[in-house]
Amino acid sequence: MTALHLWLRHESRTTERRTPIVPSDARRLIESGVVLTVEDSPQRVFSTDAYEAVGCRIAEPGSWVTAPPDAVVVGLKELPDEPAALTHRHIFFGHAYKGQPGAETLLRRFRAGGGALLDLEYLVDDDGRRLVAFGYWAGYLGAALALLHHHGRLTAPLRPTSKEELDEQLRAAAGEVRALVIGALGRSGRGARVALGVAGVDPTCWDLAETRELDRPALLAHELMVNTVLTTRPAPPFLTDKDLDDPDRRLRTLCDVTADVGSPLNLLPVYDTPTDWEHPARRLREEPVLDLIAIDNLPSLLPLEASTDFSAALTPLLLDFEVGGAWGRCRERFDAAVRQPVAGEGESSDG
Ligand SMILES: NC(=O)c1ccc[n+]([C@@H]2O[C@H](COP(=O)([O-])OP(=O)(O)OC[C@H]3O[C@@H](n4cnc5c(N)ncnc54)[C@H](O)[C@@H]3O)[C@@H](O)[C@H]2O)c1
Repeated sequence: MTALHLWLRHESRTTERRTPIVPSDARRLIESGVVLTVEDSPQRVFSTDAYEAVGCRIAEPGSWVTAPPDAVVVGLKELPDEPAALTHRHIFFGHAYKGQPGAETLLRRFRAGGGALLDLEYLVDDDGRRLVAFGYWAGYLGAALALLHHHGRLTAPLRPTSKEELDEQLRAAAGEVRALVIGALGRSGRGARVALGVAGVDPTCWDLAETRELDRPALLAHELMVNTVLTTRPAPPFLTDKDLDDPDRRLRTLCDVTADVGSPLNLLPVYDTPTDWEHPARRLREEPVLDLIAIDNLPSLLPLEASTDFSAALTPLLLDFEVGGAWGRCRERFDAAVRQPVAGEGESSDG
């Protein structure tokens, strides 16, 4: 049997410093017989030398286009616009199955070249649960940014940082805040709770059971709210414009980690554009004040921690490549999309 050849590509998005395979896991893969080529990348949070030191082959950024046909190209975010025909198997977050902007173009490129997308969002276990995700760090950062902003301590534009630095800022911002995390039992929810805990804040935690009969006055009595819900079925919104106009509202800072703008399942239909690293917070109301943070690439702000955790979850799956049922399901999802693209479900932010 020929060895699996993985090709870790350089991310074309200049702010993306994360990687799905960190050097220590690259070593593990190589020791297990995988051939691993790593493209040099100026912005990746790990140096190319660190990969070379553990036995990776090094290649030029973007050279995956001429990789051997059996190489499996691994990345996180979008591919560059060229080439028009994709001939390889690609592992990354394609955002291509819910009618998102650019989805049909990407599927057309795969159709043209005969390649395949193995979408990380659809790498799921037998029960349909995601196997690799950045949720924990998304929640951690969302809550951290919300807390810092709430105390007037958030400086823009945002830059990638380290957990030590972020935690230091959180400790310096410690103080009484009535905070609420919704979706508290999920990955992002857990991250949000831990980040608030670093600042000494013990939030109210709601998940499915607590929102079944939504207690709006209780929600609005919190000063800071972090939404980390991942929902697959319609539910009444957590906040409406009427709630924002309520003069008794104590809520001042809202962080929507879900950032599900435009989706029919959006539970916070009170804004229509996400915020970003340049302008992380946007004022939704002046009287009483309500500021929104809704950034769709939060984990990129902690590239080291996010990469390390993600790689730890992905590596065992890569060691089972083509054996594990998860990859088969991933491939079936792609084949179905290529046969009949699904449109109009709205985009989810992840990774
Ligand atoms: N902004 C970013 O950069 C970023 C990055 C990664 C993930 N995300 C998003 O974060 C969200 C959460 O992801 P996750 O990995 O934590 O998901 P998860 O499945 O681990 O957790 C979601 C939680 O929401 C709860 N939930 C579902 N419906 C609810 C409802 N009506 N009321 C209360 N709780 C409800 C679930 O029970 C679960 O505990 C997703 O929308 C994901 O796309 C955003």
